[in-house]
Amino acid sequence: GKKSECSDNSFTSVMTLTKMRVPHVPQRYVLPPSQRPNPMLDLTSTLPVIDLSALNHPSQRSLTLDQIQRACKELGFFQVVNHGIPLSIMNDALAAATEFFNLSLEEKMPLLSDNVHNPVRYGTSLNHASDKVHYWRDFIKHYSHPISDWIHLWPSNPPSYKDKMGNYAEAVQVLQKQLMEVILETLGLNFGNLHNEIEEGNQLMAINCYPACPEPDLTLGMPPHSDYGTLTILQQSGPGLQLQDNNKNWLSVPFIEGAFIVQLGDQIEVMSNGKYKSVVHQVTLSAEKKRLSIASLHSLPLNKKIGPAPELVDEQHPASYNEFSFRDFLDYISSNNIEDRRFIDSIK
Ligand code: SIN
Ligand code: FE2
Repeated sequence: GKKSECSDNSFTSVMTLTKMRVPHVPQRYVLPPSQRPNPMLDLTSTLPVIDLSALNHPSQRSLTLDQIQRACKELGFFQVVNHGIPLSIMNDALAAATEFFNLSLEEKMPLLSDNVHNPVRYGTSLNHASDKVHYWRDFIKHYSHPISDWIHLWPSNPPSYKDKMGNYAEAVQVLQKQLMEVILETLGLNFGNLHNEIEEGNQLMAINCYPACPEPDLTLGMPPHSDYGTLTILQQSGPGLQLQDNNKNWLSVPFIEGAFIVQLGDQIEVMSNGKYKSVVHQVTLSAEKKRLSIASLHSLPLNKKIGPAPELVDEQHPASYNEFSFRDFLDYISSNNIEDRRFIDSIK
């Protein structure tokens, strides 16, 4: 095929374009009209916000479990408040991310990688080496759990990065276990059986920077996709995330300071035998404002094959997915370059 416009020796980050104050997005960012954001489909609607502290009140617990169950069934998405993670930890992580992306390109280049198996990688778009159309995003991704295995590989600049992002990663990992326990309970599955695998699972932090875009109608920060893992726990600095409902409308996720967004991934859809849905989402851009997001992507261990839970399979509900592991997903995207689709559709 045609060589990508952007090989490593001509690497350009979106932050670099922004510093040059380009008046138009370069041609490689322009999406075909059918894939551009469509404001006509952007319905304002109320999306579920769950107060996690209510789980500790016996009189409110079952109502809260019902709310979570409904959100998982209908959308594969909810936001959580009163989750126990201090706002200062969330803001420190955003500050560390801001400082990292503000570094000069030369300082970030040593971390540049298009190999999805690399434990730490800086890049732009989805994969700058292979994307035909580029997305208006710079990112750094790194593994985070257990933190002592990975933290020495993380950026050493800004100097506070490891500390701030490390505290955040550990706090989110705890929240993830609490949420998995509750979600499995709403499926009638026994957390105990999966306890060790949840403990030993992967945590991949994807820290995203979407600079203000001169032509936000022509391009996206991220194309529609679902996440491959169990849960994604995300904080954003402002609005921009959209999710697709069952009628294929795009719904903008309201920005709530201090809240976390919880997205169900493909591994939960498979385990639940389709009872719960992984949520298709995309990222739109602003002409005025840079947006940051920190996504913590959780998945069961690399080689663990995941299939529909036997408790959820019977004559009326035959298994509707083949087993897959996180490794299968990585192999698939590194050979097919489809990080932007629903991987899960390939294992049905
Ligand atoms: C993602 O799809 O993981 C990123 C979402 C976001 O930036 O809000
Ligand atoms: Fe995602």
